[in-house]
Parts: sequence; C-alpha cells; structure tokens
Amino acid sequence: MAYKDVYAAWQADPEGFWMQAAEQIDWVEKPTKALFDEKAPIYEWFSDGMVNTCWNAVDRHVLAGRGDQIAIMHESPITHSTKGITYKELQKRVASLAGALRMRGVEKGDRIIIYMPMIPEALEAMLACARIGAIHSVVFGGFAAHELAVRIDDCTPKAIIASSCGLEPNRVVHYKPLLDEAIDIATHKPEFCVIFQREQEVAKLVEGRDFSWHGFQYGVRPAECVAVEGNHPAYILYTSGTTGAPKGVIRATGGHLVALNWTMKNIYNIEAGDRFWAASDVGWVVGHSYICYGPLIAGATTVVFEGKPVGTPHPGVFWRVIQNNRIKSFFTAPTALRAIRREDPNGDWIKRYKLHEMQALFLAGERADPDTVKWAQEHLGVPVIDHWWQTETGWAIAANPLGIELLPTKLGSPSVAMPGYDVQILDEGGHPLKDGELGAIAIKLPLPPGTLPTLWNAEDRFKKSYLSHFPGYYETGDAGYKDEDGYLYIMARTDDVINVAGHRLSTGAMEEVLASHPDVAECAVIGAADELKGQTPIGFLCLNKGCTRDEKAIVRECVALVRDQIGPVAAFKTAVVVDRLPKTRSGKILRGTMVKIADGQDYKMPATIDDPAILDEITAALKSIGYPAA
Ligand code: COA
Ligand code: AMP
Repeated sequence: MAYKDVYAAWQADPEGFWMQAAEQIDWVEKPTKALFDEKAPIYEWFSDGMVNTCWNAVDRHVLAGRGDQIAIMHESPITHSTKGITYKELQKRVASLAGALRMRGVEKGDRIIIYMPMIPEALEAMLACARIGAIHSVVFGGFAAHELAVRIDDCTPKAIIASSCGLEPNRVVHYKPLLDEAIDIATHKPEFCVIFQREQEVAKLVEGRDFSWHGFQYGVRPAECVAVEGNHPAYILYTSGTTGAPKGVIRATGGHLVALNWTMKNIYNIEAGDRFWAASDVGWVVGHSYICYGPLIAGATTVVFEGKPVGTPHPGVFWRVIQNNRIKSFFTAPTALRAIRREDPNGDWIKRYKLHEMQALFLAGERADPDTVKWAQEHLGVPVIDHWWQTETGWAIAANPLGIELLPTKLGSPSVAMPGYDVQILDEGGHPLKDGELGAIAIKLPLPPGTLPTLWNAEDRFKKSYLSHFPGYYETGDAGYKDEDGYLYIMARTDDVINVAGHRLSTGAMEEVLASHPDVAECAVIGAADELKGQTPIGFLCLNKGCTRDEKAIVRECVALVRDQIGPVAAFKTAVVVDRLPKTRSGKILRGTMVKIADGQDYKMPATIDDPAILDEITAALKSIGYPAA
C-alpha cells in the first residue's frame, strides 16, 4: 500500500485501523475496542485491555527465540567502553530489579523518579517499573536540584533511582549531591533511593534511605510481569511550558505500545533483529520512545550512547558507532549534525567508515534547516528524513514513512501527516487557512494512541493549555503552513518555548529565576537565532531604582543563578541590563519584536507599542553584546 492508501484507510475507519495495529501486541486480555471517548475531550485508547509493557519489550522476544540477540548496546566513548546486553540478560536484570522494588513495597501505580545518565541501567530501571506497573518519571541529568525537586513534589515518588554520577566531556556531573539537595528542598520525601555506583565516582549513601544498586537486589525473588489496564499511565515526562512549572505529560500503556510498534516498521522501517540508534538522551521523549521502548518493543537492537557528536573524541564518532553496530536507521537532532559539519565540512570523517547498512537518517527535535539536510544528503548518500513531533505526542505527527514508501522529500518540510493525525492550519479565530498561508498548527481531536491523554494531576491545565484556544482541536504550540501536496512546514513556536540544541526550554521559567535576583525589578528572556544550537537564550534585565552595583557583576550573578536553579542545559550565558522593556499599551512585553531585532530581521513597528523609542534602546543594548550576530 502507498502512503496515501494507508492514510485513507485510517481516515475511513480509525477504529479498525488501530485495532489491527493492536494485534501486533501481546495482550493478557485483548481490548474490546480502540477509542474510549466517554470522557471527551479526554480521550483514552485500549482502556479495557490488560497488558504489560516490559513483557512486550523484553520477555516476548526471549520466548520467541531472540534471547541471545543484543537488546542494548552501550557505547561510551567517554569511558572508552562498549558493552552489549542480550534480551535474555536484560530479562534477568530487569526482573531482579523489579523484584527488589516490589520487596521494598513498590506497587502498581506508585511513582518512581529515575535520574540517570546514558547507561543501560537507566533503561533497566524504566523497564523494571513497567514490569510491576509502577509509573516512572525520568529527569534529564542536565537539570539542577531545584528542577528535580519540582518534579519530586509534583509526582510524589515512593522511590528515586539514580546514578552516583554522569559524565560530560569536560567534567563529572555529581548526581548524588544534586539528588540529596533536591530531596532537601522538596516537601515530599521519597521512602528510599537506589543508587547505581559508577566507578568514576562512588557516592556517599544516606543510612536507612539509600541502597546501592547491587546490594538492593541481593537475594531477591525476580518479579513477573504485572498486567495493567490499557489506560494505566506507563510514565510521566515533564516538559517545558510557558511558566516555570513543567507540564507532566502522561503516557498511557496500551496506546504507547500500539503506536510505537506501528512507527518502528512504518516510519523507521525497523523490524525484529534490525539495529536502530537514536542519539538522544533518556531524559527526553526521543529517549523514551526510541532509545528505550520503540526498538525493544519491535525486538530490535538499540544503542545507548554516552558521548557527544564532536569532541568524544572526534567528529567521526557517530559514523564509527553506526559502522560498528551495523545501524540500519539512525536518528539524531539537526544541531548534532551542525556541530559535526562545523568540524568536518567536507565529510572526511564520514569517508573513513563503512556505512553501507545505514538506510536512512532521521532528524527531529527542532527545525531541520535546509543547509544541514543538504550537507547530510550529499555526504551520507541516504535519505535524510525530517520528522516533527513533541513530548506530548510521543511519536511523529508528520514524517516521511520510509517503511510504507519513501515520498519525495522537500527541503524544510518534515513531510506529511501520519495516520491518526488530522493536521489543520488555523487562523486566530480557529478557521482553516488556505494552502501556503501561515497559521497555528492544530490537530483535530481525538489525538491518536500513544499521545497524551492529559497532564499529571492537572486536567484543567491540560484543557486550558491545549484544548481551549481551538475547540475540537489540540493546539500544538507550533506555527507553520501546508503546501498543495499536504507537506507541512513548521516555522516557529506560538508560545514562550524555545529550542536550544534540540532541548525544549521555557523562557518563562528563566524569567522567574532572573526575577528572583534581588537587584532585578523586571526582566525578559528571548531566544535569538544561533548557528549551532538553533536558538540561544538572551536575558534583558531592568534593575531596581537606585541600584548602583556593577552591572557586569549582576549579569554574572544572573547567569550563575539560572545555571544553579534550572541547570547547565538552559545554556543561559548572555544577559544585558536595559532601562526599560518594550511593551504594548496593555503591558505585554514585545518579545517577538525583540527577537527580530536580535536576529537582524526587519520588523514592523507594533501598532500597540507604548513607546517606540524603547526599541532603539533595545537595539543598542543588543549591539553591545554582539547581536545581531555577523
Ligand atoms: N548532564 C549534565 N549536564 C549536561 C547534560 C547532561 N545529561 N547534557 C548537557 N549538559 C550540559 C553540557 O555539559 C553543557 O554544560 P557547559 O555549559 O558546562 O558546557 C550545557 O549542559 C549545555 O549543553 P548543550 O546545549 O548540549 O551544549 P554542548 O556544548 O554540551 O553540546 C551539542 C552541543 C550540539 C553537541 C549537543 O547539544 C548535542 O549533541 N545536541 C543534540 C541534542 C539532542 O540529541 N537532543 C534530543 C532531541 S532529539
Ligand atoms: P519536544 O517536546 O522537546 O520534543 O519539543 C517539541 C518541539 O520541538 C515542537 O513543538 C517543535 O517546536 C520542535 N520540533 C520538534 N521536531 C521538529 C521538526 N522536525 N521541525 C520543526 N520543529 C520541530
């Protein structure tokens, strides 16, 4: 079948389409139907089925004779080590950890926070939770203690599983002190912590609260898989919204299994026995869907990569890992390719490796700029497939479905809507726009299986953030247009979310931190265009009247404050002191206009601006810190 036939088949009979896809999953009790719309606009999928994610990702492959196949390959150029774990070993390790958690009282529905770097044990912890129906919430290692504390208070975990440290190329990330500080700050206290001690740093354990990974599992009875309802939350993953409070995206078990399994074959063309690598981090949605669950559900081999595209040790490391693991489909962020291209513009490192088993390169996480795509096409000689999705959806809204057919690629477009997604471009009033017209991108409800049913403990916020602006639709927060062939073009965010090196960050969260500095009266953060990272945050600080302190010192303190409160991942390095911020007459800060000035783009004087002269002051302030960049 061609893509258009598959999409039409879904349109004609969505229920039949997803019930058929659900047949690829091992159910303990089969669902009687796919969509449960009784609580609309909160939609659920496969709610009355009984199923276990870990069984589908691990045990069933052992049963099917794949026990000796590598399930997880750990490639760590930072520690100079490579290690493979077979499906049989994975089953044993996960059952043991799950058994230990259960013995300590963890039950179905309990939350567990996982704070770990890119080591196989992170996946084992996720799968162990899934095995006993516990709900995990993985927190990215680049977040600081305060961010971890916010998540502890929101999902109130019974336990935290962490590593003693993470390894960045230039430093050891001391996870354990960050964890201890977060537990100190948080109001909710977990009952216990399990610490995976790495040889690079052995952490001090808190007597009575902390257990070492191995000691914790000593002598326990392995746990069998516990069947859960299709609508049981598999995990919560926090993502940036407009305010400092992150949104806890829920992923429900049944839809997650069905949708990810469908994508592995139809989008990535990966089947059991194939080798797949997504170079992301388990702390992000890409890591959840395509480092851990997707490839394992499909019975493929997945790679856990602890390194960077450049500098660990050289810009050929991606190609080396692809060659050595005979990777068939590879997935990374455009920013990683830009980093490689900067150091290897002629692709000399690419030529050193045999990449003939790689069938395609997939890109997501941010807009894939045409120059980077062209560079990759030229030097890799395989289709370069941009695809667009979000933490909320968990899988691609738009893609070029390689496993169905490779459609013609169009530079700057992540191609076409996937089955399950009716994507519309709307004007402010919610009316569909014509082809080529720029507007808000919305998806007609219901969203397909595998996407968020709601937010953790925040149904009102879910409705307000996503469903209220365009009734009957899910608002993606992205703006763009569709061409006459149905290809989508994702151009910008419509909210205060920015994308720095493929990481989704909230300028609102950074503003909250800056506003807490005693000398700052008012502030704004914008995302300016950055050649490597896509966007980079810039802070504007208005100081309290009468403040006579050295402005440079205040800027330094503010930069340190954001790193300390949000974490290094915010990459907040630049701020400038200004007298006033440009605002509308109703007091709304004109961030969009400030971005245009920082990027050196033409802008129209906003009709509602309070005092146009402020824009000259902003222009001068930006010039003093090197913007617009040459
Ligand atoms: N734990 C702790 N700190 C982390 C971290 C982690 N897991 N990940 C990043 N950081 C730190 C970095 O060390 C850096 O700290 P520094 O300010 O001391 O240098 C800071 O956070 C900013 O990181 P980043 O923006 O990633 O910049 P970088 O210079 O380290 O690397 C790239 C730049 C482009 C090579 C890198 O961002 C990259 O590979 N990006 C791809 C992102 C990706 O895969 N995203 C997932 C979506 S698909
Ligand atoms: P995250 O939730 O971290 O995956 O970030 C999702 C956001 O990243 C989307 O809403 C987009 O703004 C952006 N994004 C992700 N993939 C793409 C893509 N292929 N093209 C353009 N923007 C993208």
